[in-house]
Amino acid sequence: MHYRSEKLRLFEVPSNCMCITTYESLSGYVQQEEKYINDLDDSVRSLSLDSRGSLSPNLQIVTAKDVVLRRCGQTDVLPFEQCYPQSALQHCQKIGEGVYGEVFLYRNPKGGTSVMKVIPIEGDLIVNGEKQKKFEEILSEIVIAMELSNLRNNEKNTTTSFSQVQNVKCVQGVYPERLLDLWELYDETKGSENDSPQMFPPHQQYIVLELANGGDDLESYVFNNAQQAYAVFQQIACALAVAEAQLKFEHRDLHWGNVLINTVNKSKVLPFRLNGKEILVETNGVEATIIDFTLSRVEFDGVAIFYDLSLDDELFHAKGDYQFEIYRLMQKANGNMWQHFEPFSNILWLHYILDKAVTSAVRYKNPKSKIHLKYMAKLKKIKDEILAFRSVAEFVAESF
Ligand SMILES: Nc1ncnc2c1ncn2[C@@H]1O[C@H](COP(=O)(O)OP(=O)(O)O)[C@@H](O)[C@H]1O
Ligand SMILES: [Mg+2]
Repeated sequence: MHYRSEKLRLFEVPSNCMCITTYESLSGYVQQEEKYINDLDDSVRSLSLDSRGSLSPNLQIVTAKDVVLRRCGQTDVLPFEQCYPQSALQHCQKIGEGVYGEVFLYRNPKGGTSVMKVIPIEGDLIVNGEKQKKFEEILSEIVIAMELSNLRNNEKNTTTSFSQVQNVKCVQGVYPERLLDLWELYDETKGSENDSPQMFPPHQQYIVLELANGGDDLESYVFNNAQQAYAVFQQIACALAVAEAQLKFEHRDLHWGNVLINTVNKSKVLPFRLNGKEILVETNGVEATIIDFTLSRVEFDGVAIFYDLSLDDELFHAKGDYQFEIYRLMQKANGNMWQHFEPFSNILWLHYILDKAVTSAVRYKNPKSKIHLKYMAKLKKIKDEILAFRSVAEFVAESF
């Protein structure tokens, strides 16, 4: 189930720069020429208001579109056809969908396969029952996805378990014929919950996120036994710990549709680094990737980026799965103040994943084997103990 809250907030964390602003209240952003936060990433810095919130003569207007284009490495929106010509889309397949867009697998120019998440933006048409995102609303997903992807190159806190961002493009034009055919094929074979992209006008704008292929989601993947579920749990825990330490990251929506699994060589080991300390995690043949940062929170150099879930009351009233209880538990933990860093939310999602693994909502090929029972017992023990930790970084530092 997908929930959307479109109230992006930027928040200056230091108390001397008390500054909360909503993007949608501004037609453009102001950038101070004399920068007071020197190391801050350019794109985010350009979105921070000065503490007085007033315009002074040396301010220049920077729009969210400018910042998105900069993150895309573009100076202007490019034609869809130019970025993704028909020939490049020949070996494409539709593999998934979300409320905000369609997800295709495609062969990249280097010969490997990548995932394209195509998100319509800025238009007036209602798509899949929702308003299209504006530049200022898509910006956080782009920035957060890129910062997490970049943790693979970070020295002190390192992980490769967040979806690898290969490219981000901002395009405009007719939805490619080939992708429309693939949409129809998916609808006929699997049934789509989305509106057909045929509805889009020829001048529609899109953001295309090109990501490494993370595999199948945890809901549909079938493990050999609980040892593999344990390996996935360890990878997710280490990834969250690393991102907490480096970016004060909370995922806030880590249900089993947002954890992907690739089958890999059984002997593959994944290196993590948490505050300079190396942690090696055995894959046991399964490699996990965390995706979907729509509701996530990060902070760097004093600026927090997050969605204000307090404005999304509906989210907290859903019933049924333990997933929906987690939103309420997160709200209780942070007092409905979503700008704050409350890493216990990541602990709650780990508890949810352990719950899925031990109640056999997650599927196993060999649930009677000795090794399965051994790791089932390990997972249950962790599930009983994990809520005593305040953050995943603390849990990992003590347990690994
Ligand atoms: N990197 C990826 N590799 C493989 N599949 C992906 C990837 N990213 C997204 N998907 C597929 O597309 C679906 C929707 O993507 P997601 O980022 O979760 O969007 P939404 O915000 O709409 O939920 C996922 O549930 C998954 O099936
Ligand atoms: Mg999702």
